[in-house]
Amino acid sequence: MKIAFYGTKPYDRIWFEPMGKEYGFDIHFIEAACNPETVFMAKGHDAICVFVNDHVDAGMIDALYEMNVKAILLRSAGYNNVDVKAAEDKIVVLRVPSYSPEAVAEFSMAMLLAVARLTHKAYNRTRDFNMSLNGLMGVDFHEKTAGVIGTGKIGQAMIRILNGFQMEVICYDPFPAEGLEAEYVPLEELFRRSDVISIHCPLNMETRHIINEQSIAAMKKGVYLVNTSRGGLIDTEALIKGMLEGRFGGVGLDVYEEEEGVFYEDRSGDIITDDNLARLMTFPNVLITSHMGFFTREAMQAIAKTTLENAYALENGLPLANQVGKEMAL
Ligand code: NAI
Repeated sequence: MKIAFYGTKPYDRIWFEPMGKEYGFDIHFIEAACNPETVFMAKGHDAICVFVNDHVDAGMIDALYEMNVKAILLRSAGYNNVDVKAAEDKIVVLRVPSYSPEAVAEFSMAMLLAVARLTHKAYNRTRDFNMSLNGLMGVDFHEKTAGVIGTGKIGQAMIRILNGFQMEVICYDPFPAEGLEAEYVPLEELFRRSDVISIHCPLNMETRHIINEQSIAAMKKGVYLVNTSRGGLIDTEALIKGMLEGRFGGVGLDVYEEEEGVFYEDRSGDIITDDNLARLMTFPNVLITSHMGFFTREAMQAIAKTTLENAYALENGLPLANQVGKEMAL
């Protein structure tokens, strides 16, 4: 199988290169992201491999179909960036439903702890030998209330971590899981009661802007919010308004509504034209990272393994356990 591997970063090769060889795949590593301008590079390949910020729309799917590309191999769990409905009957879409939920949950807690204890500020300060503690007072999480939105694999891993902090954990999910050390409550109650809110649901029509002006108004003043799921879950303008009103103790954002083309790239020499992103960067209690919750050795290895297993199953006519069917369209 010949695979056009879009958006290659040096760390992608660590596992994909040797594992791909073991399978006998011919992987063509392309640095460019997959978009309407670069889709032609898929010509001559059986599959394309894409990541979260490669956008594959209906027009591109038609182009891939014309080029006889058989599969879109997502090296991610989320698939909101691929028009799954348009792909129906044309191209098989396969994903990596689970690799290391703990990687994302642990990172969510790392972000929460950073903004609650201001370690990101302390780090810069002590490097200047400024050992003053003024402005660095944090809060305990112990015995506070944590609200988890979405109790799938990552949400459940987060609940286990929060349990370890001896927090009272409440959660919301339209499809409740059993056996969690957490109490399911309506979403409005979660917003009202939580000292800490962590979002772990997918982005779809229903969840888009689940954090909006109204939900922010319902939250406790001084709430800590972390989003490691998808940027579109938060209405950025409403978040900025809430920040300006001093409603948040701290916010951790690993994802951002307009991250495409910015996250994963070195834009340090560019003029940033996204005023909302620039504004968010000015708040001392907002920590922004570049969609890296998944980024551990364990997770990267597991992603490569499952992505290539998916390709192998397709090539050999085996059952496609990780196919994204049209019924899953967002
Ligand atoms: P999952 O599919 O195991 O769980 C998602 C949960 O959200 C399910 O229990 C589902 O019922 C629930 N849900 C659906 N609609 C909801 C709604 N309206 N309100 C509340 N909950 C709702 O997915 P998993 O693996 O736990 O991933 C969660 C999200 O994390 C993914 O959708 C993805 O966007 C994000 N993610 C981020 C990564 C990063 O690097 N920052 C890496 C991997 C995933």
